[in-house]
Amino acid sequence: MTQEDETGQAQTNGAADADQPDHGAYIVEPMISAKAIAARVEALAKEIERTFADTELLVVVGLLRGSFIFIADLVRELRLPVEVDFIEASSYGNAMESTREVRILKDLRAPIEGRDVLLVEDIVDTGHTLSQVVKMLRARKPRRLATIALLDKPSRREVEIRADWIGFEIPDEFVVGYGIDYAQRNRNLPHIGKVVFRERGTDTAGDGAGP
Ligand code: IMP
Ligand code: MG
Repeated sequence: MTQEDETGQAQTNGAADADQPDHGAYIVEPMISAKAIAARVEALAKEIERTFADTELLVVVGLLRGSFIFIADLVRELRLPVEVDFIEASSYGNAMESTREVRILKDLRAPIEGRDVLLVEDIVDTGHTLSQVVKMLRARKPRRLATIALLDKPSRREVEIRADWIGFEIPDEFVVGYGIDYAQRNRNLPHIGKVVFRERGTDTAGDGAGP
């Protein structure tokens, strides 16, 4: 109980820089507990084991950076011969465009041709990132390519795509924790919570960081 209180409280960083988001301006409201995540990861790993039971080697590819905690927990539950690789993509474009460019910032270290591959993503939101990365990886002719996303926000979809496995379906909220960030912060929360902005002028409970 105290743990929830502690982890659910606002993370403040004192004086806000003009170019930086004011991390004292929001609180993180708990949404999915660390315990619920662990149980779901265990169940997902069992399903993946069944699907890839005959694999010689499964290359588990994490999409950086948001998937780093999820992939770490997931591979430790997999009783399969596994290799781990990472890819980093960045998407550009504005909300007015129906397509967005997804650029590869860091590519895989090893070829995946003829390999069994599991692509691990943190959140599928509009679907642009997953759809473009999948397209790119398919072009490299893996033997099998499956996808898993910890979170899915189906109501936000712009591209028709669904991960083969989904941890949790969530409503259209901005979430952080368990590897997922808001402006690079809050990745270290052990649970997932939603970002709730304080109303302007609201007292910041005596932490002295208020406006
Ligand atoms: P998509 O291309 O719109 O599906 O983008 C998915 C990416 O956007 C995820 O991998 C996240 O990095 C980011 N994203 C989407 N929703 C959230 C959120 O609620 N919190 C933090 N990052 C998010
Ligand atoms: Mg991401």
